[in-house]
Amino acid sequence: MGRVAIVTGGTRGIGAAICNRLKRQGHTVIANYAGNDNAAKKFSDETGIATARWDVGDHEACLEGCAAIEADHGPIDIVINNAGITRDGTLHKMSFDDWNDVMRVNLGGCFNMAKATFPGMRERGWGRIVNIGSINGQAGQYGQVNYAAAKSGIHGFTKALAQEGAKFGVTVNAIAPGYIDTDMVAAVPEAVLEKIVAKIPVGRLGMAEEIARGVAFLTSKNGGFVTGSTMSINGGQHMY
Ligand code: CAA
Repeated sequence: MGRVAIVTGGTRGIGAAICNRLKRQGHTVIANYAGNDNAAKKFSDETGIATARWDVGDHEACLEGCAAIEADHGPIDIVINNAGITRDGTLHKMSFDDWNDVMRVNLGGCFNMAKATFPGMRERGWGRIVNIGSINGQAGQYGQVNYAAAKSGIHGFTKALAQEGAKFGVTVNAIAPGYIDTDMVAAVPEAVLEKIVAKIPVGRLGMAEEIARGVAFLTSKNGGFVTGSTMSINGGQHMY
């Protein structure tokens, strides 16, 4: 059955792969994005997937954006909280803005999107929320106290909301990707990245589509008994 699905940060990288996969499963997909209009237009032209621009760190914008989507397309039954940013740096060099921006978008975005959509899912008795965490939220990462804290927070948020959604047919799960071949990972200095890849047992970066396949399972009817879980898709880099 086709549902209305929204993917935050959906026009590039992992988010774009998730949008394409959910569309292939028959859902009406809307890709939210924060600011890169050119990438959004290219994505929409190539895929036929509608886009919607707002900052997921902005609480009111999430409420208004989701209400507008529901007015146009119907109730949002599937939410993929994928939007994320990095502001890497060791703590002694990290500014408060670097900390706050990452917390606001990566973790605050999950709260804001859940506030906009979870009450409706609860009333209708069906919903799927998948939060994209990170291996670095599980294991920590040098130079990422902000990102690791936000992603670790996502894993706690997921388990708490899963308990609230369970009796209403709403599952809430997380995926913890390892290092995936995206612009975000490409921004890691080459020498640092080489050392990281050398520690991945599978011997390569992951592909965005490999995360999308996990989302496809968790959002499907077959995933109904899976809630509060974290699916690690990381090539064996961290066995958690
Ligand atoms: N463990 C221990 N020491 C480390 C280290 C590590 N993992 N990485 C670097 N260091 C050490 C270096 O060896 C160096 O030591 P010396 O001065 O004694 O030689 C010192 O720390 C400084 O290292 P840098 O030159 O790298 O310092 P910098 O200030 O220029 O950069 C940094 C620091 C920004 C954190 C940089 O190392 C970096 O970008 N690291 C990668 C961080 C990372 O993995 N980000 C992930 C982004 S992708 C993502 O987040 C997606 C996802 O979910 C997986």
